[in-house]
Amino acid sequence: MIPASFVIAVDGPTASGKGTIARALAAHFGVPHLDTGLLYRAVGRQVFLDGGNPDDPGDALAATSFPEGLLSDPGLRSEDTGGLASRVSVHPSVRAALLERQQAFAAQPGGAVLDGRDIATVIAPQAEAKLFVTASVAARAERRWKEMQRRGEDVSREAIEADLAERDERDRNRKEAPLRQAEGAALLDTSELSPEAAIEAAIALVERQLAAR
Ligand code: C5P
Repeated sequence: MIPASFVIAVDGPTASGKGTIARALAAHFGVPHLDTGLLYRAVGRQVFLDGGNPDDPGDALAATSFPEGLLSDPGLRSEDTGGLASRVSVHPSVRAALLERQQAFAAQPGGAVLDGRDIATVIAPQAEAKLFVTASVAARAERRWKEMQRRGEDVSREAIEADLAERDERDRNRKEAPLRQAEGAALLDTSELSPEAAIEAAIALVERQLAAR
C-alpha cells in the first residue's frame, strides 16, 4: 500500500538527470516539487549582484535574503551561477539560513519531492523514498554541452567536463552536508539511459520503496 502522504528525496551531482527525474516524479505522484539547487544559485547570483565575494561567509550569508523574484530569473541556470552556487554552499551559515524553508516545503500536507545534494542526509532524512541519481562525468558533460549548444552558448566539452569535476570535488568533500548516497537511498545510474528510461526506472524504485513502508 502506498502511504497517503510521503516525501521523495532525490540527490545527485550536477547534470545527473536528478532535476528531470524529480519533476517527473512530482507529476506522476501529484505532489509539489522544490529544486533546492535554485536556492543556492539565487544566493550565488545575489552575491555577484552585490559585488561581494562568494568565498566570504559574511557576504554569502547576507545574500541569503535575496528577493523572491530572483528565483524566476533564467540567468540562474547559467554555468557561471552554478559555480557561484557551489562556492556559497560550502558555508554552514548559508546552509542553515536555507534549511527551514526546505524543511517547511517537505512538511506540507500530502508530501513533496525535493531534489538537491543533502535532501536525504540533512533536510528530510525521514523521507519515505530516497534516490541517489548519478552518471559518469563524461555522460554528464555531454548532456550539459548539448544543452548549452541549444542555447547558443559556445563552450568546449573539455571545459565543461573540467568544471563538473571541480564542482563534484567541492560538493563531495566539503565539511558541511557533503554530497553522498544516504543510507537506504536507491542508486540510479543514468549514464546509459534516455530521459524516458531514467524516469521509468525512478518511478519503479520509488513505488517499491513506498510499498515497503
Ligand atoms: O543542482 P544545482 O546544480 O542547481 O546546484 C548548484 C549548486 O548548489 C551545487 O553545485 C551545490 O554546490 C549546491 N547545492 C547544495 N545543496 C543542495 C542543492 C544545491 O549544496 N541541496
